[in-house]
Amino acid sequence: MAKTIKDYLKKGEAEKFAIGQFNFSDFAQMKAIVQAGQVLNSPVILGTSEGESAFFGLEEAVALRNVLRKRTGMPIFLNLDHGKSFEYLKKAIDAGYDMVHFDGSKLSLEENIKITKEVVKYAHKKGVTVEGEVGKIGNDASRLYLEKFEIIEENLTKPEDAERFVKETGVDLLAVSIGNFHGIEISGIDPNLRLDVLKNIKEKVGKMPLVLHGGSGTPEDDIRGAIALGIVKININTELRLTFSGNLRKTLAADLENIVPYKYLVPPMEASEHLVEYKIRLFTNLK
Ligand code: 13P
Repeated sequence: MAKTIKDYLKKGEAEKFAIGQFNFSDFAQMKAIVQAGQVLNSPVILGTSEGESAFFGLEEAVALRNVLRKRTGMPIFLNLDHGKSFEYLKKAIDAGYDMVHFDGSKLSLEENIKITKEVVKYAHKKGVTVEGEVGKIGNDASRLYLEKFEIIEENLTKPEDAERFVKETGVDLLAVSIGNFHGIEISGIDPNLRLDVLKNIKEKVGKMPLVLHGGSGTPEDDIRGAIALGIVKININTELRLTFSGNLRKTLAADLENIVPYKYLVPPMEASEHLVEYKIRLFTNLK
């Protein structure tokens, strides 16, 4: 039987590697991500936020995931990233997404637990995996470079909250706030993660697979350290957006007569594929 995302997460937990979630909002990006997974024979998680999926179409994303799975024979999973409402997550589940992430980080812990529980109940009936979130990861995902990012102690996941959340909700994965954030610091390298906090969370939640959001710009030693301490899924968006858009701009500027999408989309796709390959190598300790 085909392996599920949960099988891969379990393997990651046991063998100390992480699976990358790479966000997309266009088929050129989607193909590039899958191509990288195929080259390295690695599973990939394709991520769409509410905005990305609204642009692409939930059913379109599922249909094209199916086409790419069939054509490549690769384990390709589709995740609805940062769903803010149960209603939207229901739509993704009904459309055929493999996983959904409920982001209740702006709610009180009680309210977050309450809605996450409802999502878990609905999703599990349909065999869909659920990621929950405790703590405030911070910063709007639409911002690329942040002037200066400061880690605010209060926003970090409290180990006892994580323990309670996991016990009461029945989630399959937990996203944590350990100094990670969406976007990249202006210097290009984000402040160091609080691996001490991650260690304390892990001790409280046992085998629960942990997720690192805001993977762009994170120092590589921190990524390795986080994987060693139980992170099994890492999300990357900003670096992919920068790579795709930067290469597209350069390609179009270099030849003003190039009006052919299947030609000018090739350099951004190749650059995106190389970036995803680089990240998969980092996350899986491949040389
Ligand atoms: P970055 O944009 O920092 O890579 O974060 C992506 C992410 O966490 C999506 O959920």
